[in-house]
This record gives sequence, C-alpha cells and structure tokens, in this order.
Amino acid sequence: MPDDNDISPAAPIFTRPAEAAGAARHVIPDKESLPATAKQIVEDETILDGNARLNLATFVSTWMDDEAKQVYEASFDKNMIDKDEYPQTAAIEDNCWHMLANLWNAPDASRSIGTSTIGSSEACMLGGLAFKRRWQQARRAAGKDTATPNLVMSSAVQVCWEKFCNYFDVEPRFVPISEEHKTLDGHDLEKYVDENTIGVVAIMGVTYTGMYEPVAQIAAALDEIQQKTGLDIPIHVDGASGAMIAPFLQPDLEWDFRLERVHSISTSGHKYGLVYPGLGWVVWRDAQWLPEDLVFKVSYLGGEMPTFALNFSRPGAQVLLQYYLFLRLGFEGYRAVQQASQDVAKYLSAGIAKLDAFELWNDGSDIPVFAWRLKDGHTDKWTLYHLQDRLRMRGWLVPAYPMPADLEQLTVQRIVVRNGLSMDLAESLLADIETEVAYLDALESPMPLEAPHAAFHH
Ligand SMILES: Cc1ncc(COP(=O)(O)O)c(C=O)c1O
Repeated sequence: MPDDNDISPAAPIFTRPAEAAGAARHVIPDKESLPATAKQIVEDETILDGNARLNLATFVSTWMDDEAKQVYEASFDKNMIDKDEYPQTAAIEDNCWHMLANLWNAPDASRSIGTSTIGSSEACMLGGLAFKRRWQQARRAAGKDTATPNLVMSSAVQVCWEKFCNYFDVEPRFVPISEEHKTLDGHDLEKYVDENTIGVVAIMGVTYTGMYEPVAQIAAALDEIQQKTGLDIPIHVDGASGAMIAPFLQPDLEWDFRLERVHSISTSGHKYGLVYPGLGWVVWRDAQWLPEDLVFKVSYLGGEMPTFALNFSRPGAQVLLQYYLFLRLGFEGYRAVQQASQDVAKYLSAGIAKLDAFELWNDGSDIPVFAWRLKDGHTDKWTLYHLQDRLRMRGWLVPAYPMPADLEQLTVQRIVVRNGLSMDLAESLLADIETEVAYLDALESPMPLEAPHAAFHH
C-alpha cells in the first residue's frame, strides 16, 4: 500500500488496482484506499444524482447561506442527546421551540412543551403517541376497553401517518378527498369519529397539492359533534410546511393554538424552516396534553432534563442552524423569504394556467406549492409522465403522480417552490415547460404507452 508521499500529483487513481478500479461495492474492501481515491469514488458515484437546486419535487431545503455553513461546520460533531455535555445547545433547543410556541399563538408559552426531532415524521408520531396514551388513560379511568383506537385524517395524508398507525397499532380512518372536497374540511366527520377516536389530523399544506385544510372548520365540526355526543376529540396540526408559512403570509388565518381544540402542532425545520435536512419540531399548547409517562429523563447540569423522542442520538447542528436563522432573519426576514417563494409560485402557476394543455388544481396561494392536470380532451398523445421525463432531460425534477385513493385515476404534476428557486430560474423553467409541451403536442403519433410508473413517494 503506497503512502501519500509516494504519489505524484499525476497519480492514476482511476487505475490503481484494488482502489478505484474494480472495487467490490457490497463488501467492505480488504484494504484501505488513499483518502483522495475514496473521496473521488464517492464524488463520482453521486455525479449522476439530480441537481438538488433543480429538484422541484422536494420540500426540503437545498440552499443555506455561507454563515449557516460555518455554523454547521463548527457543530456537526455535537450529539443533541448529550444535554449535560452540551448544555448551551440544549438551552438553544429550548429557546427554539418556545419561539415556535409563541409564533403559533400558544396562550401561555411558559406552559407549553416541545422538542426538536429528526423531521416531521418523528414529530407527527410523537403527537400521535401523546393522543393514544391520553385516550388510553381516560378510557382505563372510566373502566372502558382500549383495544381499538382509531385516528381520523384525510386520504391525502403523508405516509408518516400510515406508518404511525401501522407501527403503533392504531386503526387509520381515511376521509376521502374528492373534486368537491379537495381537502379534509369537516364534512361528514361524524361518520368517521367515535368513542375510540384518539384524535383528528389536520394538514397545513397537503403534500399532494400544497393546499391548507381549514383547521377552524374542522374544529367547528368537532365542536358540533361534542355537543351532540359528548366526545371531546383533539386535533394535531401536521404543519410540516404550512406551520412555517401561515404565520408569515396568512397571519389572520386561525389554524394554530388560537383554536382550543388544537393540542399539538408539528413542522419540519428542514422545509420552510429553511434548515438543511435533519430537523423537525413538535409543540404541545400545554404540558397537560403530553402524558408524563411518555417522558424520559436525561442528566443535565447535575439534575435531569425531560426528553420525548423516538431516537436517542441525533445531530445537534441542525438545531443550531434553526436558531441561527431565527436570529438572522427575524420575523420580517422570514416573511420576506416566504413571500418571495410565493411570488415565484404564483408566477409559475399563472404561466402554466395560460397553456391550453393544463388546468390548475390550485395556484400556490397557501404554501408556495401547486399542482395541475392535463385538461380533459386536450390530447391522447402524451401524459404528464411524458412531460416529467422531457423536463428531466433538461435537469428539472418535476414529479407527476396519481392522487390518493378515490381520485387515483387523476394524475397531477406538482412544483414545490423553495428558497433558492429564483424568478430568474423560474423563467427558464416556464420556457422549458412551454417548449416541451409544444414538442409533445406536435408529435405525429402518440408516445408509446409505458408500464405504470413506480409510485412517487410523498
Ligand atoms: C404534510 C406532511 N407531513 C409530514 C411529512 C414528513 O416530513 P419529514 O420528511 O420531515 O419526515 C411531510 C413531508 O413531505 C409532509 O408534507
């Protein structure tokens, strides 16, 4: 094995035996490689990944400024769970979720409780677990059985809720969305809830389309149900995206802790919280809604600190990045960033609506995300999947996918506008969409029918 000193600057790293050339990929190599070789292999193997900035399928941040990168680099070795060893990072986590409790209008944030998580999925599961445990405790206290808990939500929930129900033995009850009811909006809710309902999920920013569910309307429907039946059913708001948009762009919309029935809210720090991947948050309006027996204690400054999480170890750096952004942008800065994304989303949706081929499902005026479909009768030569493939040739990742159960015959295509998709890039995207639609429309015969596409994962 040569050492660094033996290698001339022109070292043929692509041909050295047992390094880059012919290395096994599913077993750990017998011998070490030079760092430069290993790095080159990693870089080469990821060259074919899509370009993150052109990935309009993801909600997750793909851009942060240079100072954020410095904060990241200075802290990527901190484990969030080591509260005793990194007491300041722990205190900053505490500051952040208090800031969120206030942002989401908790009546008294000093009575709230919250935590960071690895993402919204974990945050949602913690919200669901608190619902389940509270329901079990109440049922046991009343001498009733706890065998069949259920959770009520839209058929367009993100997969994390299906996971929650599967992993934690809760029956999922899906209220189907339809052309008339594009989101869960409270209609017919009484047919889905009963004494075994642990809670209702309301989504702020449905993953499929970006639309808000009208949380106040859902809460009003539950109020009515309570009046008739005595059932007092709480709401968890899955604000993966919208909980970091609505406070800035729609401050008068009541979706948060202003509604008494909303016990908990989760969001992804790594979506419109604007932090790189690996961060979520969940906050309960009042500590009474998080059952004590779900909370574990870790040592902290000679005493103990409560933790509620699925994982033990987790990066602390993302929490520091969130704090950096709260300080760096402030309320007004967040508002400006989110507004800029929404301006781009509306510019794009207006441009797409002008094309004969398309009909908008929504226009990006909730979160800066919108979806469209092919107009009935426009063409039988191509589908949105073909347009997706044509755009991919130009580097743009703009997914097409079927809507959820009961609307699955409907295919839509969606754009997620994030910080970093500038108006300049958006103009290029729109021009590319126009060019590709003109190309597809001008085909003399239909595109070949393809086997069904692998489902796009939301
Ligand atoms: C509404 C909603 N909930 C939950 C999630 C899961 O979030 P995460 O990817 O942060 O785990 C997403 C992700 O897109 C989402 O859109």
